[in-house]
Amino acid sequence: MPETKEEAEFLLCVADLLQSPAVRSMERLPQHGDVSCLEHSVCVAYVSYWMCKKLGLSYREAARGGLLHDLFLYDWHKDPHKGPHGFTHPRTALQNAERLFPLTDCERDIIVKHMWPLTLRPPRYRESFVVSCADKFCAAAEGLRFYHLLKFSRWAARAAAV
Ligand SMILES: [Fe+2]
Ligand SMILES: [Fe+2]
Repeated sequence: MPETKEEAEFLLCVADLLQSPAVRSMERLPQHGDVSCLEHSVCVAYVSYWMCKKLGLSYREAARGGLLHDLFLYDWHKDPHKGPHGFTHPRTALQNAERLFPLTDCERDIIVKHMWPLTLRPPRYRESFVVSCADKFCAAAEGLRFYHLLKFSRWAARAAAV
């Protein structure tokens, strides 16, 4: 259950995506440290939603693009995949997301540019830049093991378990 008005609003933005079997399947895929790909994606989506809301940007697209940004659907630590994961997974995630959900131009840009500047083409929307920053922040928090100390990590775990 959401504890604040913002958490409830965030869940409204992404409720249909969170119920989809493809998004749920990310629960079984490890991402960084002991955090699953689903929990990482919820974390990125929530931080992006929160930042875009404060900045007066499209928080719904940021939340939805953020939730789908890593929808590559394999275990990048051990499953076979084409090319170096860091460079190729944004396009794989976009192909999966396009197959499953209607996307706006901004959501497409968010997904395919989230690894910028590693992938060279810069974000076209401010929301894409926000999600790219949120992804780096969440990945650092997870990899350096301070993620569980953050207040929103407990909420992201609950939302991912909905
Ligand atoms: Fe990614
Ligand atoms: Fe990510």
